[in-house]
Amino acid sequence: MQEYKGLIFDLDGVIVDTAKYHFLAWKKLADELGIDFTEKDNERLKGVSRMASFEIILEIGNRKMSQEEKEECCRKKNDLYVSYIMQLTRSDILPGVDKFIRDAKKEGYKIALGSASKNSSLILSRLGIEDYFDAVVDGTKVLKAKPDPEVFTKGAEELGLSYGECIVFEDSTAGIEAAHNGGMKAVGIGSEDILNAADVVIPGFAGIDVGTLIEKL
Ligand code: BG6
Ligand code: MG
Repeated sequence: MQEYKGLIFDLDGVIVDTAKYHFLAWKKLADELGIDFTEKDNERLKGVSRMASFEIILEIGNRKMSQEEKEECCRKKNDLYVSYIMQLTRSDILPGVDKFIRDAKKEGYKIALGSASKNSSLILSRLGIEDYFDAVVDGTKVLKAKPDPEVFTKGAEELGLSYGECIVFEDSTAGIEAAHNGGMKAVGIGSEDILNAADVVIPGFAGIDVGTLIEKL
């Protein structure tokens, strides 16, 4: 049996429900640009970097822009997004996550963050959980976006573990693919219908026991 030693958590949609703020900020920008952007379209943006997300929105609206215009739009979206996440508090941590990570640490697992976000340090500090992580790998540290495994393989390396010793927790299809591309098991957080490529899917962490979950992998 494989001995797992490290748990790597995505941030947005796994630890905190920031996906709704990403959507609100993109929606406002899309409205201003006259692009019809729906919650269903937003699924495609999960786990995807800021610029790549905007390129998907432009594709939906069948629009083209210069690199400078795109950067300006991403800046605008991020300013609005940051104004939302500045309001986050500890109570915004998704149900059961805090206990799950603390229990895992007590059981000796090393904990890493593996997120595409460049705002992760602000979010972790607003939530007051920076100390939970033995390693933090985010959008400021990686060059390749999920489904490339870089964010997770770097996380494993920073934990001093082999890739196969780590388990990834993800709410996006791109992230689950990234975990598998890195030779890691993936626990999907969300709906079975969307995350059917994951090794196991849970709706959230509330009531989930670390040992029981890991035995299923
Ligand atoms: C991911 C989100 O975690 O981070 C994406 O799922 C987001 O929706 C990406 O685009 C980049 O985030 P940020 O905070 O750097 O714009
Ligand atoms: Mg996510």
